[in-house]
Amino acid sequence: MLDYKLDEALRSLDGVQLAKVAGRLVRVSGMLLESLGCQRSTGQRCRVEQADGSLLDAQVVGFNRDITYLMPFKKPVGLAAGSRVFPAKDEALLQIDESWLGRVVNGLGEPLDERGKLSGRDPLPVELPRVNPLRRRPVEAALDVGVRAINGLLTLGKGQRVGLFAGSGVGKSVLLGMITRQTKADVVVVGLIGERGREVQEFILHSLGEEGLRKAVVVVAPANESPLMRLKATELCHSIAAYFRDQGQDVLLLVDSLTRYAMAQREIALALGEPPATKGYPPSVFGMLPELVESAGNGESGSGSLSAIYTVLAEGDDHQDPIVDCARAILDGHIVLSRRLADVGHYPAIDISASVSRCMSQVGEAAHLAAGRQFKEFYSTFEKIKELIPLGGYTPGMDAKTDRAVQLAPSLERFLRQEVGSGAELGASIATLQSIIK
Ligand SMILES: Nc1ncnc2c1ncn2[C@@H]1O[C@H](COP(=O)(O)OP(=O)(O)OP(=O)(O)O)[C@@H](O)[C@H]1O
Ligand SMILES: [Mg+2]
Repeated sequence: MLDYKLDEALRSLDGVQLAKVAGRLVRVSGMLLESLGCQRSTGQRCRVEQADGSLLDAQVVGFNRDITYLMPFKKPVGLAAGSRVFPAKDEALLQIDESWLGRVVNGLGEPLDERGKLSGRDPLPVELPRVNPLRRRPVEAALDVGVRAINGLLTLGKGQRVGLFAGSGVGKSVLLGMITRQTKADVVVVGLIGERGREVQEFILHSLGEEGLRKAVVVVAPANESPLMRLKATELCHSIAAYFRDQGQDVLLLVDSLTRYAMAQREIALALGEPPATKGYPPSVFGMLPELVESAGNGESGSGSLSAIYTVLAEGDDHQDPIVDCARAILDGHIVLSRRLADVGHYPAIDISASVSRCMSQVGEAAHLAAGRQFKEFYSTFEKIKELIPLGGYTPGMDAKTDRAVQLAPSLERFLRQEVGSGAELGASIATLQSIIK
């Protein structure tokens, strides 16, 4: 009886706020708070007292002698010199299972929909999942993304990680929405990172729809969230996707956008005093991107698959941007969207000559690959001469290949265009491709 009472009393202590003042705020610079005295390890949490008496959650991101650098999870309201800083309990591990499907959460795994707290049987690790490269299952089977141009000409494999590269407003988010709805993957994990808050609701209502949401988990950190939340949200969607992969499911992870993740890290690193290197990005950004991308992809044999599509913003249509360059080097393929095509209403605006899927040869059959190569050849031949046609610069009968390209042009164009609401299955896309290139 006494033991029981003692146990109960000890358990009730768990919920008690640690009230010991450990530090005082000495400086606030942008999103970075400096506390004198609250010496905790990086990654641990503190709480800072605000003017209205509420406590602001923050994470230790660095230190300099006895000054601890803190980055808050939310925007601070009314911080003053000397505000008290308390040590806080560390983040409890999230618990996950299939009940997460259909839910919308923030970077800390807290619900954003009105469907109550999330729970589950299995603990979800906080750090990014790692797979021994020697034991990683190879990419062997094709992944149906429901977009004809990709299924036919840039076939993706289960376990492949690709980038969707384009300037702003060329159709990255719309294409990602199409893929989300049409794909045949068992589970779709969507990370909406640093993009417009307005688009979140639109994405959930229109791109996913009720049926799409049932097999999806959406992790949201719009542009107005703190950079720390944007980083956490990106990492959380990778951990969730890896969890479902290890449960034996075919998972598709969609992240909009990888650039905003890099920008969030840039904000934090610059605030911490790291020197900027290329285009203001500090070196740590180029270390974090491969780590993130490597955490996606297939797991060890026996698990399911994890394919990922990241949107990458090519600012000012600059494909030499350091993040574009870095992403292109670490991903297994790039799908480039072209403003030239979008301007003439050609959607999805995929520039097939500039795009490449590095796993296509592993997952496609010989006849399909040959048809794909010929398609690209005819398409680029037609692209070269198409402006000459209205000027009378093309005479039929001079070159058989050019004649064939001109004759096939309307079918090629029809194959590449696709309405937002329509789907194109993998088998049907390949069959259509082969019927055009007979
Ligand atoms: N498949 C499509 N069919 C018709 N219109 C489209 C299509 N894709 C994109 N658009 C048009 O282009 C606009 C911008 O598309 P979207 O929001 O996908 O661009 P984005 O590349 O994600 O831009 P940002 O970089 O600013 O996020 C849409 O609002 C829509 O008008
Ligand atoms: Mg977008």
